[in-house]
Amino acid sequence: MKIERILEKFKITRTNTENLCKPLEIEDYSVQPNENISPPKWHLAHSTWFFEQFILIQFDKNYEVFHEDFGFIFNSYYNNAGKRVLRPNRGLMSRPVVSEVLSYRKYVTKNIIALVENNPSDEILNLLQIGINHEEQHQELLAYDIKFILGNQPTFPSFETEMHLKEETHKSEFIQIKEGVYEIGHNNDNFCFDNELGFHKTYIQNTEIANKLITNGEFIEFMNADGYENFNLWHAEGWDFINQNNIKAPLYWYKIEGEWYYYNFNGLEKVNPNLPVIHCSYYEAYAFAEWKGMRLPTEFEWEIASEKLNHGQLWEWTSSAYLPYPNFEKAAGALGEYNGKFMVNQHVLRGSSIATSKDHSRKTYRNFFHTSSRWIFSGIRLAKK
Ligand SMILES: [Fe+2]
Repeated sequence: MKIERILEKFKITRTNTENLCKPLEIEDYSVQPNENISPPKWHLAHSTWFFEQFILIQFDKNYEVFHEDFGFIFNSYYNNAGKRVLRPNRGLMSRPVVSEVLSYRKYVTKNIIALVENNPSDEILNLLQIGINHEEQHQELLAYDIKFILGNQPTFPSFETEMHLKEETHKSEFIQIKEGVYEIGHNNDNFCFDNELGFHKTYIQNTEIANKLITNGEFIEFMNADGYENFNLWHAEGWDFINQNNIKAPLYWYKIEGEWYYYNFNGLEKVNPNLPVIHCSYYEAYAFAEWKGMRLPTEFEWEIASEKLNHGQLWEWTSSAYLPYPNFEKAAGALGEYNGKFMVNQHVLRGSSIATSKDHSRKTYRNFFHTSSRWIFSGIRLAKK
């Protein structure tokens, strides 16, 4: 990619993150309802620290850090980058205040632009691309976390955004996948994360995969058929999870006078049966598939069928554990901590969601979360057994 284009992308990405947060009230920026959620203020600063730590400190000899404590405060999980505030304590930090974080963003943005205009080595440009893609990932996490913060207010405030699901109106059918050898993974010059490499072959059996996501209406049928009460449909871990947490519906759903409502960015609304169901854990997606006499697709089946799937609304749970591909190699240094160390006890989600940056999604992209995650923008697609 040309330097001007990367810089343009960098500026747009930085602005987009700030615009995403603009409808928030100042009190919303520092809240951390649980360990999985990060305060919006933290996202704004951490995505900035990433550029400061991995580009400016390494490559700009004259660079002066914006604040000497920010490395400790806004490092997420990079052991190679030193000690940090523990994740559950992010919400305890009423300082730095939001305006200081926004000044930090301006300062780092300005210094990155100056550095790249003066010394655009391939190494810097490569790190800049990673930083941009990293910030785009945080834009999506911001959307999840903002929804969780507002969705847990007793007043269910609305939030101005374009992120709304659409009814899937296309005709329902199953896409055939023929048995054979297929190529999997990233194999061109465009940007990808290390977990999409290496490119390799895999053998797939004959199968069929649905061209539509499961809707709220279909999920209500599962609930009405006592799906949440039938232990035969559930993994042992899933059964324990829903019982220990008293889960009887997707996240954000409430039954009011016999009718299902949910929180979305418009506030509390009646559940629309024609929209795709969102905010189910992997456990719930699996139990639903069991009840239908079907299964979740593997990530490889998903990638092979991807062009025919009408995706783009929600990330889709796959039955594939998040594992390294053959010949996977971690990046050298601190950025080797980006993906590789999370390849245990998580499942892959494929596709993209209404919160994903437009040019961020691709058919080889491997999203991943723990099987109990429900606040992410995830949906359910089925394959035949
Ligand atoms: Fe991050």
